Amino acid sequence: MFKSKILGLGKYVPENVVTNDDLSKMMDTSDEWIQERTGIQERRHIKKGDGNSTAIMGLKAAKQAIERANINKDDIELIVFATLSPDYYFPGCGVQIQEGLGIKTCPALDVRNQCSGFVYGISVADQYIKTGMYKNVLVIGSENHSGGLDMTTRGRHVSVIFGDGAGAAVLSRSDDDSSGILSTHLHSQGEYIDELSLRGPSTEKWVPEIIAEDPQEDIPYYPKMNGQLVFKNAVVRFSEVIHEGLAHNQLKKEDIDMFIPHQANLRISQFIQSKLGLSDDKVYNNIQKYGNTTAASIPIALTEAWEKGKIKKGDLVVLAAFGSGFTWGSTIIRW
Ligand code: ACO
Repeated sequence: MFKSKILGLGKYVPENVVTNDDLSKMMDTSDEWIQERTGIQERRHIKKGDGNSTAIMGLKAAKQAIERANINKDDIELIVFATLSPDYYFPGCGVQIQEGLGIKTCPALDVRNQCSGFVYGISVADQYIKTGMYKNVLVIGSENHSGGLDMTTRGRHVSVIFGDGAGAAVLSRSDDDSSGILSTHLHSQGEYIDELSLRGPSTEKWVPEIIAEDPQEDIPYYPKMNGQLVFKNAVVRFSEVIHEGLAHNQLKKEDIDMFIPHQANLRISQFIQSKLGLSDDKVYNNIQKYGNTTAASIPIALTEAWEKGKIKKGDLVVLAAFGSGFTWGSTIIRW
């Protein structure tokens, strides 16, 4: 059995900064409400005409990760792309990355696991490398949330939370037995499908049908979220799946050197941090600057933490996510 390790990391966020005060000009909200409930101060939104999309941002992050991995784009043998906001209904963004990188042909796999998308993507990449099928796998998480949010008071409980951006990682076969991905742990619970979802357009409800219905009460083409239920489940599942990963590797919470939670909400991250008894220097949060970027949030945060020198060789790094589905997962890495 081979081992995989993260060889290169990259990120990209659009230049356009949208502050809480900017949002309060579009809807009935306030900086105080948003910061108190979520910790978010600002986020990035694609600006019409700036040339960005989910795939384009993913491509920018991927190019940086490949360069830092010090490999050639043609060494990439599999692309795994995680998003809930693809450019096309079909095909997925993976093929846009293959084309954008100028790789002749290679498999491109699209993962649809929302906030857990990057952890699911890492797990897929890790399995392919472990079995010896591929040596280098590119995993991307990217989201263009601003293209599909209800930016009126009606959608404020959801729209203030989300931001745009992308992150990427190159996972490669490693000869070093003492470091790399130790394990990944994935879960889902479809019972809660409607508690955090975007129902249509879909093959069940296509656009003309949606428009024909009176959309005043429950608009199926904007995201819907039962915030309090999500919060309650998130804190339980985050904790469970981190302990599952630690136990699997005979490790304890005291062994964690850096915890990178999916940036769902600063209050959720702080709750988990206190349950794990971790000091501030062992947790990396950047939701204050970028909002919740769903599949992109972990790779953006991981890249930023690494760029700031907060992750060193030998560190035990824990990634964990929870989101729509519900889905959740963790990745335990010896750096
Ligand atoms: N600005 C001002 N007021 C608002 C806003 C807003 N943006 N949104 C809602 N309100 C109002 C509501 O209308 C309500 O008013 P009312 O009391 O007059 O009816 C009041 O604020 C309280 O609303 P709640 O929905 O009960 O607010 P709550 O305290 O639950 O906070 C929040 C909402 C922040 C979404 C919280 O439930 C939460 O953080 N949940 C977790 C969800 C999450 O993190 N989602 C991220 C995406 S999923 C993921 O990544 C895991």
